Amino acid sequence: ELKDYDHYMLKEIFEQPESLRNTMRGRLSEDMATAVFGGLNLTPQDLLKVKRIVFTACGTSWHSAMVGEYLIEEIAQIPVEVEYASELRYRNPPMDESTLIFAITQSGETADTLAALREMKRKGHPTMAICNVVGSSIAQEADGGIYLHAGPEIGVASTKAYSSQCLALTLLALYLGRLRHLSYNKGRAMIERIKEVPDLVEKALESNTKCREVAEKYKDCNNFLYLGRHYNFPTALEGALKLKEISYIHAEGYPAAEMKHGPIALVDEQTPSVFVMPHGFIYEKVMSNLEEIKARGGPVIAIAAEGDERIAEVADDVIYIPQTVEYLQPIVSAIPLQLLSYHIAVLRGCDVDKPRNLAKSVTVE
Ligand code: F6R
Repeated sequence: ELKDYDHYMLKEIFEQPESLRNTMRGRLSEDMATAVFGGLNLTPQDLLKVKRIVFTACGTSWHSAMVGEYLIEEIAQIPVEVEYASELRYRNPPMDESTLIFAITQSGETADTLAALREMKRKGHPTMAICNVVGSSIAQEADGGIYLHAGPEIGVASTKAYSSQCLALTLLALYLGRLRHLSYNKGRAMIERIKEVPDLVEKALESNTKCREVAEKYKDCNNFLYLGRHYNFPTALEGALKLKEISYIHAEGYPAAEMKHGPIALVDEQTPSVFVMPHGFIYEKVMSNLEEIKARGGPVIAIAAEGDERIAEVADDVIYIPQTVEYLQPIVSAIPLQLLSYHIAVLRGCDVDKPRNLAKSVTVE
């Protein structure tokens, strides 16, 4: 089963070009310039009545929900909220009948996510699941949804399910966008970009050797910061969680510009900052956030676009990834962050597939 890999986590990281192909298979219609879903069980008429979407999830799936918020608000212009399932289940937020709920979950068995879904369903809202495990509790109880088809994920740290969640949410944004404001031409252009994703991920995996080198250099640090803005902010949160859970190193993710409101006090020579900064409209702003860290003596590891020579002059280490449009960057940028955490954990002698205190599916609240 493990083939040539030392751990399931590494195998699953390298499976991503394939798992992403499986997530998008049969779901892109060039003719209609939109995405196609078989299992939503909602008609276009139903979907036009939706005025608000709530995503609920835990952990890594909560991070993909944040990516989904950015995607759907930008591309489909529908207001989105993201709620921790453990909070939503005991809150009583006002929601009118035009609110659509999505539970996002790899396992489909997370107790809090299931309870939040049940509570929303009880209130009469249509509930959807974005789920990997076919026939799981959440998949069964939701009124409809989208299966990821990423294949079984054995490593406790979620990798390929995360990238597939981000991709499924991109397809959902395209579909909802095409029901509303998005033109035929823009839909077609999105499809062209989306089809490139598996190859871009394949290229991003070539950063493995560099990630290992960077891991060697920083493996003994006890604190890490992960920083990014816009679509790369949820990626920063996810990078920090991956490091925490498998290497037991303390890490925090922040929107890069929030640093000056407190966390910058943490910066010193022993606290590396991982900047997620492929090209995009926010690049210059992130660059000045990076300079603020350098000015305080903090080492900087940059995840940047191939061909970005300027970053090599300011960052201590650069991990290059292929450039893509902003809304697809979460998928491509996640790859080196997964690899970096993996190598740091292995170098520190941690059991990456079964980290302490964690279980693959959290079926207790
Ligand atoms: C992190 C991780 C957890 C899960 C969380 C939700 O790598 O695996 O944070 O993402 O427990 O699990 P699912 O997606 O199965 O609901």
